[in-house]
Amino acid sequence: MAGRIRDVDIALVRERSPIDHVVGEYVQLRNAGGGNLKGLCPFHDEKSPSFNVTPERGMFYCFGCGEGGDVITFVEKIEHLSFTEAVERLAQRAGIQLQYEQGGYVPKRDQGERARLIEAHRVAAEFYAERLLAPEAAPGRKFLAERGFERADAERFGVGYAPNEWEALTRHLMGRGFAAEEIVKGGLAKEGRRGPIDRFRGRLVWPIRDATGDVIGFGARKLLDGDDGPKYLNTPETPLYKKSQVLYGIDLAKREISKRSQAVIVEGYTDVMACHLAGVPTAVATCGTAFGEEHIKVLRRFLLDQAEFRGEVIFTFDGDEAGQKAALRAFADEQKFVTQTYVAVQPDGLDPCELRIKQGDAAVRDLIASREPLFQFAIRSTIARYDLRSNEGKIAALDAAAPIVAGIKDVGLRKRYAIDLDRWLGFMDERFVMQRIAEVSHAQSRRPQRAPRPAPVDPHVKVEAELLKLAVQRPVLLGPRFDALDAQAFTAPDHVAVHKVIAEAGGTGSAGHGGREWVDRLLEHAADDAVRALVTRFAVEPIQADAELEERYANGMLAAIEAVSIDRAIAQAKSRMQRLNPVEEQAEYNRLFGELVALEQQRRVLRERAAGSA
Ligand code: CTP
Ligand code: MN
Repeated sequence: MAGRIRDVDIALVRERSPIDHVVGEYVQLRNAGGGNLKGLCPFHDEKSPSFNVTPERGMFYCFGCGEGGDVITFVEKIEHLSFTEAVERLAQRAGIQLQYEQGGYVPKRDQGERARLIEAHRVAAEFYAERLLAPEAAPGRKFLAERGFERADAERFGVGYAPNEWEALTRHLMGRGFAAEEIVKGGLAKEGRRGPIDRFRGRLVWPIRDATGDVIGFGARKLLDGDDGPKYLNTPETPLYKKSQVLYGIDLAKREISKRSQAVIVEGYTDVMACHLAGVPTAVATCGTAFGEEHIKVLRRFLLDQAEFRGEVIFTFDGDEAGQKAALRAFADEQKFVTQTYVAVQPDGLDPCELRIKQGDAAVRDLIASREPLFQFAIRSTIARYDLRSNEGKIAALDAAAPIVAGIKDVGLRKRYAIDLDRWLGFMDERFVMQRIAEVSHAQSRRPQRAPRPAPVDPHVKVEAELLKLAVQRPVLLGPRFDALDAQAFTAPDHVAVHKVIAEAGGTGSAGHGGREWVDRLLEHAADDAVRALVTRFAVEPIQADAELEERYANGMLAAIEAVSIDRAIAQAKSRMQRLNPVEEQAEYNRLFGELVALEQQRRVLRERAAGSA
């Protein structure tokens, strides 16, 4: 059994893993002011960024979906790892040698499963790449040369050759200390009648990497006549490899995708290589599956531009079905990003790899530059199937294209395309075309649209939240005055709980300058996950004031909440006085009266203070 990682090591891993760097490998972050960063949340679907990172406190929090935590939690969630595995991953990244309690040395076998599988893939990729140089790999080298790739190109993409033997890789991995079950679990081998056999044999192999550059699987092309398997064979679903999310080339393309706000989707491994070599470094490909919503999510993290996702996603469909594929895409994902989706198809139906061979690098760049909006392409390629010289052909084309136009949800865009369609068909009768589209449109049932309404926020509850945020982030600005507030000062149950945590952690007076340690102390005192989530949120959510005005702001918030407490005390004193008999209970009445006068005096002072700092 694996030992426990020593606490000091965990602390060291946290310290040497700046959250902005680690998160930045998955999400494009931009400055959000006040030392905070924000980006599109990798844990839920969103168009404008609500995912916040506070490097100062080493925390992240998403205001859209409520995910939050520190750098280790982030890695756990994004990579689907256990705590130990996440720590191991970060340690590897930071170059820290972990020590395990009970027993000291822990053999490699006991590392987290993911780390082991990643290591196996790294070794496998190296093995395949080396074998590409062997005499038996001649058909592989010939294939590459025929597609215009030189040895340096193959090396750049790590292309390799899987020997045509039953267990060449399996033996190699076992010799390196990997167990048969692991090799099978990682998809590198499969169970044969007499033990595991290599999955890929006699094929050219492309290592498939995740965005951080770890090899997570392989794509393998058939080379030999005797091979009766499919033309391309990929790693099956494994703990590392989820084909609905995999984008070949994302490790190489991600920076350019961010920089250019553009992603090019091609269909094959050779197309990705050809694009990158031709000067289209934003190209990626799905691996043996259609481009779907999960792929969009992966891409969008890198396509963030300023506050919103404004990038272009360009599809290069090859072959005859390009038009149909485009039409299908147009209606996928509820048209959320349809206006940012383009199609680039070469008139002769050449894919980027073939185009580069036949016409050179510039032709590949021109192809991408010639992109057309998705709807335009879908409509034009539909009508292109008809003979537009006759009225019969034109009407047939109109009826074929009408559902596409009718299906456009944006009314303005729909109208524009109706007008365009009329011109493309050559009727020169917009009303007729629109009528025809409207008939189709009518027949297509529409789903009712529901807009989420934000919950109404009581201004006082907002003051509570701001104050708790200050207590978590800038305790020094509040000090003992905050600690003097009683629990009744807070009304929202969640806020009462956080106030309690702050008190139990020693209060803002004991928090010094706050920072990591203070937040950690608060998290330790939180009773459950819900409270922890709220503390995390308060640690990350920006304070609603500019840095130089924070002190005044803090005073204002304190004054506002104190005023509410005093109002409550005044109301209580008054109601008690009303129930007293001023003659028979004169002593108590006088005491309450004195209290009331003092409270009202305080209330005046506070009102002035609140006004002065507003
Ligand atoms: N593909 C697949 N399984 C197949 C055929 C294709 O998974 N049986 C996927 C592969 O990811 C491949 C892509 O579709 O890279 C493109 O297929 P295709 O156009 O047939 O391959 P090319 O790379 O263009 O052809 P070749 O390998 O002959 O150059
Ligand atoms: Mn192709």
